[in-house]
Amino acid sequence: MSSSPSSEQRSSAEAAPASGLTIDGVEAAAIAAALGTPCYAYSAAAIRAAYQRVDRAFGDLPHAVHYALKANSTLAIARLLRSFGAKADANSMGEVEVALRAGFTPDDIVFTGVGKSPEELERGVALGLLTINVESPGELDRLDRIARARGTVARVALRVNPDIDAQSHPHISTGLKSNKFGVPIEMAPALFREIARRQGLRANGVHVHIGSQITSLDALLRAAQAAVSLAVALRAEGIPIQHVDFGGGLGISYDDNAVPDPTDYVRRLVKLMAPTGLEAIVEPGRTLVGPAGYLLSRVVDVKHFEGGRRFVVLDAGMTELMRPALYGAFHKIEPVQPRGGVPSLVDIVGPICESTDSFARDRLLAPVDTGDLIVIRDVGAYGAAMASTYLRRPLAPEALVDAGGWQVIRRRQTLDDLLSLEA
Ligand SMILES: Cc1ncc(COP(=O)(O)O)c(C=O)c1O
Repeated sequence: MSSSPSSEQRSSAEAAPASGLTIDGVEAAAIAAALGTPCYAYSAAAIRAAYQRVDRAFGDLPHAVHYALKANSTLAIARLLRSFGAKADANSMGEVEVALRAGFTPDDIVFTGVGKSPEELERGVALGLLTINVESPGELDRLDRIARARGTVARVALRVNPDIDAQSHPHISTGLKSNKFGVPIEMAPALFREIARRQGLRANGVHVHIGSQITSLDALLRAAQAAVSLAVALRAEGIPIQHVDFGGGLGISYDDNAVPDPTDYVRRLVKLMAPTGLEAIVEPGRTLVGPAGYLLSRVVDVKHFEGGRRFVVLDAGMTELMRPALYGAFHKIEPVQPRGGVPSLVDIVGPICESTDSFARDRLLAPVDTGDLIVIRDVGAYGAAMASTYLRRPLAPEALVDAGGWQVIRRRQTLDDLLSLEA
């Protein structure tokens, strides 16, 4: 791995005279040459377009797009989304703090999490976050006590579990009764009445999030309908609900198969919400940043033994991109500068001593050789954010391509960085 350069803006004119994949006019090979591999690169233009598509689809309906930081919480990405007008959805106190450092105010932040620690609840109340999405009767009680002890009132929403199958991968489905998330929707009216009795709490919303990489619009809309009906019923009872938070979850096309159009989805939400007078919140992550990300990696070995499989071994592995190992997720993989020749079926694997460290099996790939640069596509969400330092592999650097130039937004971690926490 080569070292990363300083973080000044680079112009495309500096790019090495290499052909092949470009990211908004910038040679991917030039970024890889400067940063070393593996490295991430993101297109600011793609993130901007994705954000605006969602935001504009709401039209005049009162709404807020809270970017789900869990998809990618690199500071510059959070700042970029904020500059477009996004608000933030945090799934841990670490993400709340990142949101604050990126310039979001507590009023911009919704905070969700199935097991918030006492410290996280204390800090959330102290900050006066827009909403803390409550996941259980016990958490409701803990929040009330913390708020009263501080002489304040915490704004909360209840995360309801509508028992709807998101028809996504079981590891990223959250809306069934058998999942650990939220409270059964039929318990919600009683819990909202309980919140209304609590001196330390004020309910301002209903929250639902049934999973991620969802390609069934029907499942998303049934969950949305259930949440809206609940909010309307609560308002009729005099409980001052102000928003319905539909969570994130909309899938992207990793493999060119059709997926629901975010504009259609949002327009359907608008239709549900228009008669209610309530504000709509959405928490998209993957749809905003997923397609904008590229993981650049070099082939470190190609091997094939008689009667065996043909392996292309990359310098990126499950430490940089865990999704294939974790969910069997599909990502397109291509040479950055194709050599030409007849594609063949190969297994594309990482360098890590785990058999699950594999990006693709029996994948048709154009001929490649040791040293060739490879791109793994659509890795802007749940890529760098899920990276680990297993095998003492330092975290990969990240670059943001914008307006014909690019910038290092995270330098490569060094072994010294890694060891600096240790005695
Ligand atoms: C509570 C919550 N909101 C939003 C999201 C973002 O989901 P996605 O990236 O699928 O849009 C997630 C991710 O699963 C989540 O857990």
